[in-house]
Amino acid sequence: MDAANDLHLSRRGVLAAGAASAAVSAVPFAEAQAAVPAAAPSVMPVSIEVNGKRHTLQLDTRTTLLDTLREHLRLTGTKKGCDHGQCGACTVIVNGERINSCLSLAVQHQGDKVTTIEGLGTPDRLHPMQAAFIAHDGYQCGYCTPGQICSAVSVLDEIKRGVPSHVQADITTTAKPTNMEMRERMSGNICRCGAYSNIAEAMADVAGNRA
Ligand code: FES
Ligand code: FES
Repeated sequence: MDAANDLHLSRRGVLAAGAASAAVSAVPFAEAQAAVPAAAPSVMPVSIEVNGKRHTLQLDTRTTLLDTLREHLRLTGTKKGCDHGQCGACTVIVNGERINSCLSLAVQHQGDKVTTIEGLGTPDRLHPMQAAFIAHDGYQCGYCTPGQICSAVSVLDEIKRGVPSHVQADITTTAKPTNMEMRERMSGNICRCGAYSNIAEAMADVAGNRA
């Protein structure tokens, strides 16, 4: 192709592009706007109650509940183990149900009530489960312990409420807090130190005290 022809094609291309552009600008503004999806907000106000105290925070919508507790509210009792829902170290109680806070975005918890290990008891007034973990040596390094205790408290509550488990022989009756029940229901909480037997004993102690 010679230079003149090349120039000719280029001019034609420019004219075609100009016509297309004129057509686009003829589309009503509102219509054009409707066709473009609105960008999701990247920061939102989130209001949650943590250990009886309400907090309203401006959070990146990608912030997990775990990071909200640890990084924004400085409640570092809740631990980050795997950050992938595999270890249970981040377990907290939300509206009476235990959850892995690393798998949950803070924006999903508008208005929710969250209880962390700091909200269960204090050094002067321990929750019975905290006291039982101490009495039964239910920990070694202690890293998994806040999650274990939040889970253990919820497990006994789930048994009382008749929530069935995989090892329950008859799901039409309320489960007994047996060693097998405890171990099955606590199977999402991993302890690298292997304090499982003592954790189960602590739970049995609290369950016995409740009976
Ligand atoms: S940190 Fe959430 S399950 Fe491991
Ligand atoms: S006490 Fe160390 S991981 Fe459980």
